Amino acid sequence: MAIRIHWSDDLSVGIPRIDKQHHEFINILNDLQDAIEKKKGKDDIEEVICFLEDYAVLHFSAEERSMIRYGFDGFKDHLAQHNIFRNSLQNLRKKYEVSGPTDSLADTLETQLCGWFMNHIQNVDTLFTAHLRSIGALEDVVDEPSKEEKPKASDGKPQEVEIIR
Ligand SMILES: [Fe+2]
Repeated sequence: MAIRIHWSDDLSVGIPRIDKQHHEFINILNDLQDAIEKKKGKDDIEEVICFLEDYAVLHFSAEERSMIRYGFDGFKDHLAQHNIFRNSLQNLRKKYEVSGPTDSLADTLETQLCGWFMNHIQNVDTLFTAHLRSIGALEDVVDEPSKEEKPKASDGKPQEVEIIR
């Protein structure tokens, strides 16, 4: 069985709104590991992959908008890092569509997505926090969720997530 990521304060980047999104991201990654390992039905796994794809779009674009807004000079490097995850997620989907919920798919999820995520939030996202702190803007990051940016849950209702401006 693959290792699960457990949220703890050690993973905090120091911005509660981002932490909340990261926590949700981890929950979805764990849900996908469960769905693959339990070899749930196609509809169930498809639903979690779709939700992860939607959440990745929402979360990364929120971070990227915020980086542009606050003039983060590490933006290009950070964008490249996000693109690595986006590519890995595309590969995971292709692999799933070809072979289904295999042990190899669970390994890919663990090493390429979960492993990337843990490293990213601890070593890369924290650089943006340091930038915000250095320009005195850490307290200015406000959240105003908009309905159209919320991914839909299986019941069609928007998820309760917060958007970083
Ligand atoms: Fe990031």
